Amino acid sequence: MPSIWAIQTRPTVTDFAGSVRPGGLFSAAITGGRPTRRRRSEVPIRSGCVSYTGGVLVTARLALVPIADAHVRLLVELDSDPAVKRFIDGGKPSTVLEAEEFVASSIGHRSMAFTADERVFVGWFGLVPGPADQRELGYRIGPAHWNRGFATEGARALRDHAFETLDVSRLWAQTMTVNLASRRVLEKVGFRLVRQFFQEWPDLIEGSEHGDVEYELWARRPDNASRT
Ligand SMILES: CC(C)(COP(=O)(O)OP(=O)(O)OC[C@H]1O[C@@H](n2cnc3c(N)ncnc32)[C@H](O)[C@@H]1OP(=O)(O)O)[C@@H](O)C(=O)NCCC(=O)NCCS
Repeated sequence: MPSIWAIQTRPTVTDFAGSVRPGGLFSAAITGGRPTRRRRSEVPIRSGCVSYTGGVLVTARLALVPIADAHVRLLVELDSDPAVKRFIDGGKPSTVLEAEEFVASSIGHRSMAFTADERVFVGWFGLVPGPADQRELGYRIGPAHWNRGFATEGARALRDHAFETLDVSRLWAQTMTVNLASRRVLEKVGFRLVRQFFQEWPDLIEGSEHGDVEYELWARRPDNASRT
């Protein structure tokens, strides 16, 4: 079976949904090739992020592109591997309708992640608003790309974007206690464990008897100064 992530096999300029567009690098994803004017929010260099232009956040290896209707097919393919949703709903694949609803509820705060060089689809990241000026960090990476540091790299860039550009006060994240890879990512990004809790979920997932954990990271606190 061909790799579902390797949607781009030739080094062409694409719009990150698989179709070829004329125009320059990442601006094509947003503008359809029209040149973009530099905005105040564009930051050329920062710790976790190489650039932020036209809504596309670029790290050393990833381009985080605002989620759009054109990405539904990639989301369905991502969720078709049971390993991806093992700790979310026990591994059920998402339907096209569910992916469409996911996109609709994600506009403005979730991004699709592609490799910055060959534009291979890797997964998605999100900074979901609420409560108040807080955001929930989320991520999902395709198994073909696990354990290469992509989740950590994208999460670090979004952490810096949240605190330095969006003026978020607190980032938080929840995951199953037994989701050790996700917990490790949060720890590498500087989050700290704040609580373990138990709640009823519609799906009985192996390991749910150990409950869930919540992590957090506050902005501008002296004890956050060491985050990397
Ligand atoms: C969790 C997830 C995002 C991690 O993505 P990733 O790109 O592989 O993450 P990274 O490579 O940046 O880091 C993974 C870390 O977890 C560690 N890890 C992986 N599997 C592990 C396991 N079973 N037990 C302990 N640690 C594990 C890796 O060794 C690595 O840590 P290290 O750098 O100290 O060696 C990815 O596995 C995923 O998308 N899973 C499915 C969806 C999901 O669970 N999302 C989170 C829901 S809250």
